[in-house]
Amino acid sequence: MKTYFLLPLLALLVTPVSAAKMAMPSDVPKTYEAECASCHMAYQPGLLGQKNWQKIMSGLDNHFGTDASLDAKAQTEITQWLLKNAATKEKYSALSPENRITKTAWFIRKHDEVKADVWKRAGVKSPANCAACHTDAAKGVFNEDNIRIPAK
Ligand code: HEC
Ligand code: HEC
Repeated sequence: MKTYFLLPLLALLVTPVSAAKMAMPSDVPKTYEAECASCHMAYQPGLLGQKNWQKIMSGLDNHFGTDASLDAKAQTEITQWLLKNAATKEKYSALSPENRITKTAWFIRKHDEVKADVWKRAGVKSPANCAACHTDAAKGVFNEDNIRIPAK
């Protein structure tokens, strides 16, 4: 009896820390929500490493084909906050080509089951549109139970 009782506890101990939850830090500046979540969701800083955030923030005048420039104050505030909260684990902080979360090695591996045509569905539009499939993306919850892939 006692052994059975301990089993769930054991499972907890051996389960690796997963990427499933990448919560938004509680000190998120208002400027981040206002300036960086109007065209897409407010990406959690833990989704990219420092170098990539640095590059993104120093190239906002030509940001993936749009102009996302900021005034100096917001620029400094957001940059410092992103760098402070960037991914630190090797797997998640490895430099990503094109400064994209969606081009990181971990992203590609985690999504290898998603077929090419799924990314192009009208309900998805782009891999960068996390919330199209991850129903709680805004909360930083990306685990299996909170995924619903648009049928078209
Ligand atoms: C004027 C619109 C606009 C604003 C404002 C904007 N972005 Fe973007 N951003 C885009 C577009 C467009 C893309 C490319 C989306 C795609 O490929 O589907 C993008 C992509 C990104 C990506 C890469 C997503 C991927 O593919 O992994 C990151 C990271 C990002 N933006 C961060 C920011 C940050 C930080 C700010 C605030 C400083 C910001 N964005 C403000 C339009 C904007
Ligand atoms: C077309 C739908 C779709 C889009 C868009 C999408 N994902 Fe996913 N994501 C999935 C699927 C399917 C899985 C695999 C779930 C599984 O097998 O555990 C997954 C897995 C993940 C995982 C691993 C979860 C875990 O428990 O290990 C993370 C983290 C993740 N996605 C983050 C993102 C982020 C960040 C974005 C946006 C930049 C994004 N995803 C966009 C469908 C999508």
